[in-house]
Amino acid sequence: MSSTPVPRIRPRRLRETPSLRRLVSETRLHPAELVLPIFVREGVTAPVPIGSMPGVVQHSIGSLPQAISDAAAAGVGGVMLFGVPEVRDAQGTGATDPDGILNAATKVAAEASAGRLVVQTDLCLDEFTDHGHCGVLDERGHVDNDATLERYTAMALAQAGAGSELLGLSGMMDGQVAAVREALDGAGHHDTAILAYSAKYASAFYGPFRDAVESTLEGDRRSYQLDPGNRREGLREAMIDIDEGADVVMVKPAGSYLDVLADVAAASDVPVWAYQVSGEYAMIEAAAAHGWIDRKRAVIESVRGIRRAGADAVLTYWAVELAEWINNGDTE
Ligand code: PBG
Repeated sequence: MSSTPVPRIRPRRLRETPSLRRLVSETRLHPAELVLPIFVREGVTAPVPIGSMPGVVQHSIGSLPQAISDAAAAGVGGVMLFGVPEVRDAQGTGATDPDGILNAATKVAAEASAGRLVVQTDLCLDEFTDHGHCGVLDERGHVDNDATLERYTAMALAQAGAGSELLGLSGMMDGQVAAVREALDGAGHHDTAILAYSAKYASAFYGPFRDAVESTLEGDRRSYQLDPGNRREGLREAMIDIDEGADVVMVKPAGSYLDVLADVAAASDVPVWAYQVSGEYAMIEAAAAHGWIDRKRAVIESVRGIRRAGADAVLTYWAVELAEWINNGDTE
């Protein structure tokens, strides 16, 4: 007579009770590791909802302080500001104007934060150019890498002057970290840090964001953002940025690039962040609105997966809500 063998090894033992599961959990979420992206729109007097990002708004300058305070009260680690200007031109002049929407918003945010969270700014021209590209164009209509660096260094000085503590270089131009570091140091901004969006892929998941900033882009960004098929190249970009002086490196989007994130996390000696982008947000919100998935569990799982893959911090549009769940002990 044969008897069913009794398992000698039983991993399920550690899954038996909620308290055991909590004790052996490998990845915990903390509000301080969350960064909230915030859109600020010029010329509006009240927040404007973004159709493709239910629950997210374009803030007015007037509604920004409360948003900063809410994030700080929830314990969120920082905010990343994006500006939506009224007027755009070929050079993206609004980006370097000290009174341009992003720089004006930065001053307001820095004051509202009063050191409670880290005020960060997107450093890229796409919201400010009439053609919608992340850089300036040459006579053939191609994005001119080195001419763009000059615009980025001017932007960096404007943002640092406005009080941004961490500049988010998201334009994917070669040499942008080195150029901005040198410009900051030359102007005495030694303490202004650089977050390099090192491995930024040419992704369909930015779709709702382009709504949010009312992007005028025609065509695509494949001549500067990474090919979604390229893993090794993502790591290479991060290593170059660390070498050029990046204080933090980032992988973006997050959910479809967890392998790249794990590679960068294994190799990096600076913090590694990930950006859970607008399309990742919109997909979960849309499915949840249909009742097809459990919204809260899906949000928590999506961010936890990004942390598990190696992100030290996560930019997510759910930062404040998620922080509140964490604070209420509601995520285990
Ligand atoms: C560029 C920038 C983009 C995002 C952040 N910074 C858009 C792009 O490259 O087209 C996307 C963020 C998101 O989708 O949530 N300034």
